[in-house]
Amino acid sequence: MTGMQRETLFEIEQVVFSYDQKNLALNGVSLEIFAGERLAILGSNGSGKSTLLKLMDGLYFAQQGEIRYRGTRLTSELLNQENFAFGFRRAVSLVFQDSDVQLFSPSVWDEVAFAPLQLDLAPAEVEARVAEALGGLNITTLRDRAPHRLSGGEKKKVAIASVLSLRPEIWLLDEPTAGLDPRSQSWLIDFIQERWRQGNTIVTATHDLDVLDDIADRVIVFNEMHRVEAMGTVAEILSDEELLVRCNLAHRHRHYHFDDVVHEHHHLHQGEHQHTHLE
Ligand SMILES: Nc1ncnc2c1ncn2[C@@H]1O[C@H](COP(=O)(O)OP(=O)(O)OP(=O)(O)O)[C@@H](O)[C@H]1O
Ligand SMILES: [Mg+2]
Repeated sequence: MTGMQRETLFEIEQVVFSYDQKNLALNGVSLEIFAGERLAILGSNGSGKSTLLKLMDGLYFAQQGEIRYRGTRLTSELLNQENFAFGFRRAVSLVFQDSDVQLFSPSVWDEVAFAPLQLDLAPAEVEARVAEALGGLNITTLRDRAPHRLSGGEKKKVAIASVLSLRPEIWLLDEPTAGLDPRSQSWLIDFIQERWRQGNTIVTATHDLDVLDDIADRVIVFNEMHRVEAMGTVAEILSDEELLVRCNLAHRHRHYHFDDVVHEHHHLHQGEHQHTHLE
């Protein structure tokens, strides 16, 4: 990357957003996203991760400040212009945290074919993309099932397949590994790495500190005030114990040892069973 200036895809500048005009979801958030990077967004529940991804996907719009996509300010008027919307929707795609919000088609096939059909591709190409996406996620056998009658993890896979068939350049992934079994999680991490090697930009909201190394080059951390608390490399963020505790990403855990000495450790927040010590 030395010498070459990377293209800036998103410039997020002092963005303020509230769903209800009372409680802030984003409170003056600024950051940039560069072409070809892998960025992870960390933050406690309710800190604003999903909201930021929805604004980047043009589903909501900044009430103060602005988001520019390749230099153009995202507004509802702009997204209503077919020319712009077509290019934008083709390039940028969000996998929702809650698959139920994303899935709307009567069958898995229809769901995964929706984007290629919107692109007006030839029927054989649509079929090829659907087959590839279903095969890639190992859900070919679900093709005739109703998405809303699948298990949570199956739904998540269908949601990912429905984005994969679009082949976007910019992936916005909202807690993509949540609810997936270990093999599917591992597949998804390989998948993210492969998309990145192909030149795609990957922005992932996650609580899973274990996968950061595999899915991110750069990390931003939201705090409970709905602002950016920190930005850095994965190593910088993971080594900042104070930051992780302050932002509810690691928790204090009282620990009794056999010698009856009480130690207080900080633990990476990754469930109750694995105890990775930060010290
Ligand atoms: N549809 C909504 N209506 C009103 N308030 C909302 C809505 N969605 C989110 N919020 C509020 O906006 C804030 C940010 O929520 P957001 O979903 O962006 O958080 P998050 O960081 O993604 O959390 P989580 O880790 O739980 O997914 C929270 O205070 C939340 O209560
Ligand atoms: Mg969220």
